[in-house]
Amino acid sequence: MNLALSLFPVQASNFAPDVDNLLYYLLAVSVFFTVLIFGAIFVFAIRYRRRSETELPRAGHTGLALEIVWSVIPFGLTMIMFGWGAKLFFSESRPPDNAMQIYVVGKQWMWKMQHMEGQREINELHVPVGRPVRLTMTSEDVIHSFYVPAFRTKEDVVPGRYSTTWWTPTKPGKYHLFCAEYCGTNHSRMIGWIYVMPPQDYQAWLNGGRAFGSLSDNGEKLFQDLACGNCHKADGSGRCPSLVGLFGREVQLADGRVIKADEGYIRESILQPNAKIVAGFQPVMPTFQGLVTEEGVLELVEYIKSLGHQPGTTPAEVNTSPQGTNQ
Ligand code: CUA
Repeated sequence: MNLALSLFPVQASNFAPDVDNLLYYLLAVSVFFTVLIFGAIFVFAIRYRRRSETELPRAGHTGLALEIVWSVIPFGLTMIMFGWGAKLFFSESRPPDNAMQIYVVGKQWMWKMQHMEGQREINELHVPVGRPVRLTMTSEDVIHSFYVPAFRTKEDVVPGRYSTTWWTPTKPGKYHLFCAEYCGTNHSRMIGWIYVMPPQDYQAWLNGGRAFGSLSDNGEKLFQDLACGNCHKADGSGRCPSLVGLFGREVQLADGRVIKADEGYIRESILQPNAKIVAGFQPVMPTFQGLVTEEGVLELVEYIKSLGHQPGTTPAEVNTSPQGTNQ
């Protein structure tokens, strides 16, 4: 690593150049106007100072043209800041559909990462270069913040909900990960590394890692252990709605609202089942708050996702398949 103190971290993600350019623009505008304004203050203070006790200023008036010029130019410059910043903000909040999914759970004081294939890491995350990575994040305790300076992204990790962020790493290497929200005694030690690897190295890393079973396989096992299938029968004959094809669908609620079944909705329905009751069903589900860890909830979410998007498959397996189905 470079030991020289560098003013900026390396640009290692798709967002980094744009974020830096916006910052340079903000700096340039700020410096220009600071110099202009302070320059004018000193020049005017000397040039137009009061020269005698009896001196009275002449009544003056400003030209309309000057008024317009010094209103329109700053307006234009600030609208560029707004437009540019908004564009970046929106692109940072919308992961592309082909993004690779990683789950992150923050807790005092570590980062737990889970790959879809089952690999788990603590305070380290291995990703391939050149591929968009989407992080779905939550916290077990207090608010943390997932901050990778080299990627120029920072996103709060909040207990009780999922937040997402994404980036495409553009340079192989090892990059600092920080917690950027004060979260208690060892906040400053809640740090880690992102390893960006060439795709073939990443594949080798994936194959070489200890496998814990894929997230959705583990979710299926948990689904059976918790006997969810007793009520959520796949054919829809149970006391609770079938979960087949649920993910991403619009759901009609008993109170008349229609919501989209995303990760946050599924998580809420596991931990606070009465928050949103599906139309036509009774609020009979017990809460699983305290019975399932955040990682367990993520596995259940992935399992429920895996039940979707395949209208032709036989849903009866959902509650009857034996636990030995993961290889
Ligand atoms: Cu976690 Cu600061």
